[in-house]
Amino acid sequence: MDLTQLLEIAQQECAARKPIQIHCCVPAGCLSADSLAVKQCLEKAVKEIGLEDQVQVCGVGCLRLCCQGPLVQIEPEKMLYEKVTLQDAPSIITALNGGETTVQRGNLAQPFFTQQMPIVLENSGKIDPERIASYIAAHGYQALYHVLHEMQPDEVVDAIAKSGLRGRGGAGYPTGLKWATVAKAKGERKYVICNADEGDPGAFMDRSILESDPHRVLEGVAIAAYAVGANQGYIYIRAEYPTAIARLQLAIRQAQRLGLLGSQIFESPFDFKIDIRIGAGACVCGEETALMASIEGQRGTPHPRPPYPAESGLWGYPTLLNNVETFANITPIIRNGADWFASIGTEKSKGTKVFALAGKIRNTGLIEVPMGTTLRQIVEDMGGGVPDSGSAKAVQTGGPSGGCNPSISC
Ligand SMILES: Cc1cc2nc3c(=O)[nH]c(=O)nc-3n(C[C@H](O)[C@H](O)[C@H](O)COP(=O)(O)O)c2cc1C
Repeated sequence: MDLTQLLEIAQQECAARKPIQIHCCVPAGCLSADSLAVKQCLEKAVKEIGLEDQVQVCGVGCLRLCCQGPLVQIEPEKMLYEKVTLQDAPSIITALNGGETTVQRGNLAQPFFTQQMPIVLENSGKIDPERIASYIAAHGYQALYHVLHEMQPDEVVDAIAKSGLRGRGGAGYPTGLKWATVAKAKGERKYVICNADEGDPGAFMDRSILESDPHRVLEGVAIAAYAVGANQGYIYIRAEYPTAIARLQLAIRQAQRLGLLGSQIFESPFDFKIDIRIGAGACVCGEETALMASIEGQRGTPHPRPPYPAESGLWGYPTLLNNVETFANITPIIRNGADWFASIGTEKSKGTKVFALAGKIRNTGLIEVPMGTTLRQIVEDMGGGVPDSGSAKAVQTGGPSGGCNPSISC
């Protein structure tokens, strides 16, 4: 695979697109509300009405307003339909032909959507997470090509440091500093681990990212591995996330088939393999030392640091461990530049944050906002406040378990 071939895949994908796209939300939340059957029903209606030449139905990642799922969005009109049922799904198709629809219309002009700044979630709800061509058409894997052919590993580390990105797993440790420590550490081999344990009740940011855009995470992990000098990566994910696991497994196979993972990636000297390790669902295994013990086949119990994983991690070798969302930020930083990323957010916290809104709040779902956005904006404006004229008495940010994953429960 070279850059020309990558761009050809993107071109073919765009050329095959039909004028009207019907995006049907298929991550776990909407799937549990029967969105796959809704999608099949929409496909059948398109055939029956004879609109196959103009209309394409595709499964996409999270459309974010989870409380109103299953969600269906029409592009390019930007029309959102909520709580779509099998009974009324066909009327969405007849409405395309000038007919009436009984389905509830969503409001994309409400603060829940307008106050978001999707960077990590930029592809979420737009691409098909089960098709690598869909990701490639959204500039996927171009950042990996760029770093392998045009940047030295230390330049990649410097770019991440300059961007001001801090870890999204809870502690907010500067990502560039962590990468620099692993890059400098001596070891006959090094590992990269993506922490997808996400054990905090109510949190579903990492799960959604993986279900909506798995290649984005793989690309971020591969760039990190090149930067620190690792040839093996692991994604540690809990068994309770079967959809995310299945999409990751598929994404890894697709990337390997195209030579985007494996030996001599993009015809460069860089070899990198990613394997999945499935955790049994112990919240403590999200803690990095417990997580590594679990990968090693030992009991998932934390142990004191130092030594830090950067110096002595998996099987005693230097290991870079970052959260899913941290890795999902890497590609846009490489693509748009460190200065662009550093211009978003606050003085000390750059970029955006994905939040899972859960509990007694009107709009439960997934949002991404610039760092510095106030809790009031998130809960009252975007979240729509407490339902039934109630007022918020308490808001919990981060998980109750102590893992500090930034979900918000009211
Ligand atoms: C009890 C406990 C649970 C944790 N659970 C998670 C988790 O589910 N996901 C995660 O990314 N980090 C979790 N962490 C933080 C990790 O130990 C680690 O700091 C983080 O994954 C590093 O990634 P980052 O630098 O990208 O934030 C947990 C920490 C503790 C103490």
